[in-house]
Amino acid sequence: MQNRRNWLKSTLALTAGLPLSASLVQSLLAAPVGETEKNFWLNYPAAAFKIRLNANENPYGPSEKARKAVQEILHEGNRYPFDTVGEMKEILAKKEGVTPDHIALGSGSGELLCVAGVAFGLEGGSVLSGFPTFPMLMNYAEVFQARWDKVNLNENLEFDYTALASQIKHDTRLVFICNPNNPTGTLVDPKIVKSFCEEVSGKVTVYADEAYLEFLEPHQQVSMVDLVKQNKNVIVSRTFSKIYGLAGLRIGYVVAKPDLIRKMSRYGMSMPSQTAIAAAKASLGDDAFMSLTRNKNAEARQHLTRYLDKKKYFYGKSHTNFVFFEPKSSALQIMTTLADKGIGIRTWDYQQKQWCRISIGTLDEMNVLTKAFEEMRV
Ligand SMILES: Cc1ncc(COP(=O)(O)O)c(C=O)c1O
Repeated sequence: MQNRRNWLKSTLALTAGLPLSASLVQSLLAAPVGETEKNFWLNYPAAAFKIRLNANENPYGPSEKARKAVQEILHEGNRYPFDTVGEMKEILAKKEGVTPDHIALGSGSGELLCVAGVAFGLEGGSVLSGFPTFPMLMNYAEVFQARWDKVNLNENLEFDYTALASQIKHDTRLVFICNPNNPTGTLVDPKIVKSFCEEVSGKVTVYADEAYLEFLEPHQQVSMVDLVKQNKNVIVSRTFSKIYGLAGLRIGYVVAKPDLIRKMSRYGMSMPSQTAIAAAKASLGDDAFMSLTRNKNAEARQHLTRYLDKKKYFYGKSHTNFVFFEPKSSALQIMTTLADKGIGIRTWDYQQKQWCRISIGTLDEMNVLTKAFEEMRV
């Protein structure tokens, strides 16, 4: 581990030819990191972990169908995916019940969050969101001089939609919501979310991040896409990185009115690769793989939450593949001790406290994790 740490430090410092600033590190890491973690990630490259519970990845993916599709499309690797992108938009438009003009594809939904951050951030004013949440859009908007207005979650670590509505100001340009929310995993009743979007989208654009929606049972999956169909100012984003297990292939999309799609697309940076599109196409509608992931995730999550209950930790009720809880000792210390055992997790700063977020791996991995907790006696 020591060699890898030194290698990462020197590689970052030398190849960049720049002082090793926190923002440089942040930009080199896919996931936004908070104050507590900045130095940690310099020392521990995530890829070095035997058990990766730090990025809400799907340990069962890619599905067999996706793997086969990637192999079969390799011979097209010399061709730009122009037509394939168009075809994929048509497939997604059909799935969502809109036209292809309502769809933008990105190299992961992260790219689309960044693009929205640029498009709205350039207008100045502010972007508003619950806090803590997935910060990528707001971080980008801040780079372009917009203000990030934050509204704390409620005592159950859920988005507080009443408080959020009350914080819309004359210069609020966009409201970011995330249901279920990352990092807390909590879900708000879609009826509440829908009426919030209906009311607020008359004044400002709402960006609804639904990255983890498919971890709910199919009958509970209520998307805000209906509001797009009603021509509301709502942007819905989805990803193939989570339930479909394609995080490394990079593909996601948004559904929105064509004028919002055009507004965002001006700042688009890339298009998904032939392989990403092929894998995504093969994964859509693979109900067997999705329920396998959902069931195994629920079983492994239950192992963790039972442990947290037994030890009387406070945690958010998770509907996703991660759990957010308040440790009884330093989160950074816990993260470092686990890292030395080859297990990666994340920490968060919130309300003058440090919190841990643990992604759900396989049941075996969660067993190793809870045993490690026992050994640490935290
Ligand atoms: C809420 C949320 N939105 C978007 C993303 C970005 O995912 P991707 O760029 O892989 O689609 C993540 C990644 O963890 C996330 O948690």
